[in-house]
Amino acid sequence: MIKLDYTNISQKVIGEQGLDINQAFNDYSIRIQEIITNLNMNKDKPGFWLQWMNLGYREETVWYVKEFAAMVDGRFDNILVLGIGGSSLGGLALSEALLKPWWNLLDKEQRDNFPRIFFLDNIDPDEISGLLNILDLKKTLVNVITKSGSTAETMAQFMIIKDRMHKLLGDDYRKNIVATTDKQTGILRQLANEEGYKTFVVPDDVGGRFSVFSAVGLLPLALVGIDIDEIIRGIKIMDLTLKNTDIRKNIAAQNALIHFLMDTQKGKHISVMMPYSSRLKYFPDWYAQLWAESLGKAYNKNGDRIENAPTPLKAKGATDQYSQMQMFNEGRSDKIITFIRIERFENELTIPNIFEYTGVNYLGGKSINRLMNAEIDAASVTLCDYKRPNLTVILPKINEYYLAQLFYLYEVQTAIAGELYNIDAFSQPAVEHSKDYTYALMDRLGYEESANELREKITKNKEVIGLN
Ligand code: PA5
Repeated sequence: MIKLDYTNISQKVIGEQGLDINQAFNDYSIRIQEIITNLNMNKDKPGFWLQWMNLGYREETVWYVKEFAAMVDGRFDNILVLGIGGSSLGGLALSEALLKPWWNLLDKEQRDNFPRIFFLDNIDPDEISGLLNILDLKKTLVNVITKSGSTAETMAQFMIIKDRMHKLLGDDYRKNIVATTDKQTGILRQLANEEGYKTFVVPDDVGGRFSVFSAVGLLPLALVGIDIDEIIRGIKIMDLTLKNTDIRKNIAAQNALIHFLMDTQKGKHISVMMPYSSRLKYFPDWYAQLWAESLGKAYNKNGDRIENAPTPLKAKGATDQYSQMQMFNEGRSDKIITFIRIERFENELTIPNIFEYTGVNYLGGKSINRLMNAEIDAASVTLCDYKRPNLTVILPKINEYYLAQLFYLYEVQTAIAGELYNIDAFSQPAVEHSKDYTYALMDRLGYEESANELREKITKNKEVIGLN
């Protein structure tokens, strides 16, 4: 199992900036018990948006995903995933971590005959054009993912690519498209029905940012040969562990409480996520969306105006020791830092003993793995010297089983944090607000009134200063 080391948030280590952990666990043990019991009691009830807690047990999804992956095996050179936010970040983060590094640069044999994979999660015209220049669309399977079926960014990407495919392949283009969307509603569902695309379902009551273990994440992963049975095994074991209502035995509850108390009692309003692994470089992106969209809410469940939850900040070790770490140590004391430590990397690399110079010869003969772990220890002790709270999530190694545990742990932690803050963690009103503005500005039917208001807001009081 993965582990959580919270030594460096305790008062014993960082003085007043730290927490009396024992006391905190005692004070909140009953509340945590209630929260975990309620989450598990409500998970099957419609409207609670907790169906993500059941994704580890949906055997039929795994079966359909594997069946489709087997059916298209060998037919495509590329998988192109279209989607944004929760429809993209989980698959991106997991595939980057689980595939061999530099996957898309490897030849077919090195990829064990599995396709390359590309995630298009933006509407940058240069990026899209560049990608279309290098992809042979005839040999590309497009997985378009949108739960609502109408997100402008995703649908715009899809329309551009579908049009090109149609021109290139005639009516056969349909065989190169698989859509993941709501089972009944939305424009993409309607289109898929009319045009006859193969489809997968984003289950009811699973929000985008909690959908990584539905077909949203599992399908792209299976298509490139990632072992989704092992992913399911990882979710199940973590789910079982996190059902424990005793805070002393539940790391999701511990980490949620630590972040909650650090934010509300110690002024730590920024939560830094810093894996010491390049393969985990997109995990902080996934975490940032999960945490920010779930916990950044203006009102609590009683309707009171609030400001809460630490803002997520992405970092990567050891790289950011030479970028942001100076500020983490000596800047404003408003951060709690999470390190992710990999106990065993897949490779062991020895630094050769090739230079005599005393300045660098201490490195010679040692492994670069040891250097990585020295960096993480050095960084966390330095933070403690500056009285900055930090904790470490320890992964025995990077594989499907442990990563599923990690992602599921953070989903549960976020849900528990939502309850501690007494907010609805499963809505995203501000995201919808700006989505609606985009529709209005792009002349979508039904948004005419807000379009006029909006144009006025954009031009009013505008001051643009340029150099002559
Ligand atoms: O977490 C969420 O619900 C959002 O981030 C969505 O994933 C994002 O807005 C994309 O929505 P959709 O899947 O409907 O295109």
